[in-house]
Amino acid sequence: MSNVYSAIKISDHVYWVGAIDWTIRDFHGYTTPRGSTYNAYLIMADKITLIDTVKAQFKEEMLSRIKSVVDPLQIKYIISHHSEMDHSGCLPELIDMIKPQKVFASAIGIKTLKELFHDQHEMVSVADGESLSLGNMELTFMETRMIHWPDSMFSYLAQDQVLFSQDAFGMHLASLERFDDEITEATLEYEAATYYANIVLPYSPVVLKALEKVTATGWKIKILAPDHGPVWRKDLAKIIELYQKWASQKPTAKAVVVYATMWHSTEKMAGAISEALAEEGIKVRLLSMNETHRSEVVYEVLSAGALIVGSSTLNNNILPQMADVMTYLKGLKPANLIGAAFGSYGWSGESVRHLEEMLKEMKVEIVAGAVAVKHVPDSAVLAKCRELGKTIAAELRKKVASNQ
Ligand code: FEO
Repeated sequence: MSNVYSAIKISDHVYWVGAIDWTIRDFHGYTTPRGSTYNAYLIMADKITLIDTVKAQFKEEMLSRIKSVVDPLQIKYIISHHSEMDHSGCLPELIDMIKPQKVFASAIGIKTLKELFHDQHEMVSVADGESLSLGNMELTFMETRMIHWPDSMFSYLAQDQVLFSQDAFGMHLASLERFDDEITEATLEYEAATYYANIVLPYSPVVLKALEKVTATGWKIKILAPDHGPVWRKDLAKIIELYQKWASQKPTAKAVVVYATMWHSTEKMAGAISEALAEEGIKVRLLSMNETHRSEVVYEVLSAGALIVGSSTLNNNILPQMADVMTYLKGLKPANLIGAAFGSYGWSGESVRHLEEMLKEMKVEIVAGAVAVKHVPDSAVLAKCRELGKTIAAELRKKVASNQ
């Protein structure tokens, strides 16, 4: 039977041997409309080495790609940079099949893999800064705890100047194009930002330290090989610069207005607030949670300085669509935001209080009093909404100026 899948050479000695998941649409709450890839890499060193693996159900695709280069039984080392199951799902089966001489992971990685799979395979821990000889080549490890799990690490292959960065610099984008220069810049930036916002954002302080750490090594990096999406070979400086920007989370003159509405009253308020913000020169994204996925909201918040949230009151609470996005946003810990709440109600009107409490828990600085209306907003209420928009705009301009 012919081998269906092929490896793709990414440097003199390294091949991409991952899998393309064209159909995945949900990644623990993050919607992935363009699917994803699980990248694994084969280093054709004296000791043939497999860097990471793929989700369990994609094992045959990975093996098929490996077979296009070498008999998988020739693999001597397997290295797990990150034990989350999209990269380790088929690892135990693969170890049984290949019987490599050694399997390496960070100390926390070994512990995590044992907790995930409860198997008895022997693994060797590698430490931060440690180098591993592959015979004619050498891999050097760097711990990158919390990007994206406590076990995570990068490794650097000096001979080919390749940095294997597991989740970092990745994106959920299924494609047959394997390199950054084969995909439009707009797609790369949008998908990388969406990935950062939905996966990496809470660990931004760690990202800044990791970027410093990589710079301090003096490693010359020609290829950046993440575990999802394209391999970076053209514009590495650009994605590193974007990571620096996203991780810094400096406020910008952009406001995100997010709301859910029952009978269009909260929607009218959102419109009035947005118009006033725009008139003051603030870039606005107006997102109705009746139609928008939470992943898109956090993508927009990544590059914003203000978050203004609205909801009708439903059964003494906020609408469930708003509860969903507020819970998701809280977990992703966007920083340096100012904000306010607004909403409509029929009789009891608790929504704005709940929203303000949630904003405070997210450490969003509330800079304007909430606007709430019973039933339908009249022109006086809409004028209050416009005033809220103008107050936010003034505060945002000050905040942006003080963060220049
Ligand atoms: Fe791609 Fe954190 O796993």
